[in-house]
Amino acid sequence: MMFAAIADIHGNCAALEAVLSDIQRLGIEDIVNLGDCFSGPLEAGRTADLLISRNIPTVRGNHDRALIDRPFERMGDWEKPAHAQLSPVHLAWLQAMPFDRVFKDVAYCCHGSPKDDLDYWLERLSPEGVLHLRPLKEIEALAEGITQPLMLCGHTHIARTVQLSDGRVIVNPGSVGCPGWRDDEPFYHQVEAGHPLASYAVLEETGQGWQVYFRQVRYDHMAMGKLARTNGMPRLANAIATGWLD
Ligand SMILES: [Fe+2]
Repeated sequence: MMFAAIADIHGNCAALEAVLSDIQRLGIEDIVNLGDCFSGPLEAGRTADLLISRNIPTVRGNHDRALIDRPFERMGDWEKPAHAQLSPVHLAWLQAMPFDRVFKDVAYCCHGSPKDDLDYWLERLSPEGVLHLRPLKEIEALAEGITQPLMLCGHTHIARTVQLSDGRVIVNPGSVGCPGWRDDEPFYHQVEAGHPLASYAVLEETGQGWQVYFRQVRYDHMAMGKLARTNGMPRLANAIATGWLD
């Protein structure tokens, strides 16, 4: 069995199209989406049309939740421009999205961690504002009670595989559409991919366990960076154009 995991598209439809083409070129039919589909200043509406038309199983990210759990006036800078592009059909699709799901009986899927869509499951935030690999015991504590051999998450945009001491594997495929971001809570920190390519993962079941292939796909990232700049988010524009925030 082989399938693709995508995450953190953030309205970057051009990156999503490139990833879907790459998946098709590999002859892979099954795709699961780990959330944060639309938020940002790019092409939320076109991204929604594409995801809904492809009927891709999706779990709800924190940014997906923030598009439906508060009035427009209380939405943040990432949600407002996305929400303005979403139709009632798109919002109904968001409303129906589950917090987590089991994909094809083999993979547990969530956005942050099984407990919270804001958790960094595989990373810990250092006092210097750097996300680094989290201690195994903490990662395993969050995996307690999950019976699937493979677990998938998104949210940090950091492509990473962690193998638990019982042999199970957790994979974050990285971000399709947003290679850099910053947050002020609980204090300033940032993540940069160091490249502008659209990231996702291919998972293959083998006799020896799950094989993970991280893919990084070229697309017209300069055009999307330009769009982010035009729409008033210059650091995100830098990240999309180069993989670096500054
Ligand atoms: Fe997220």
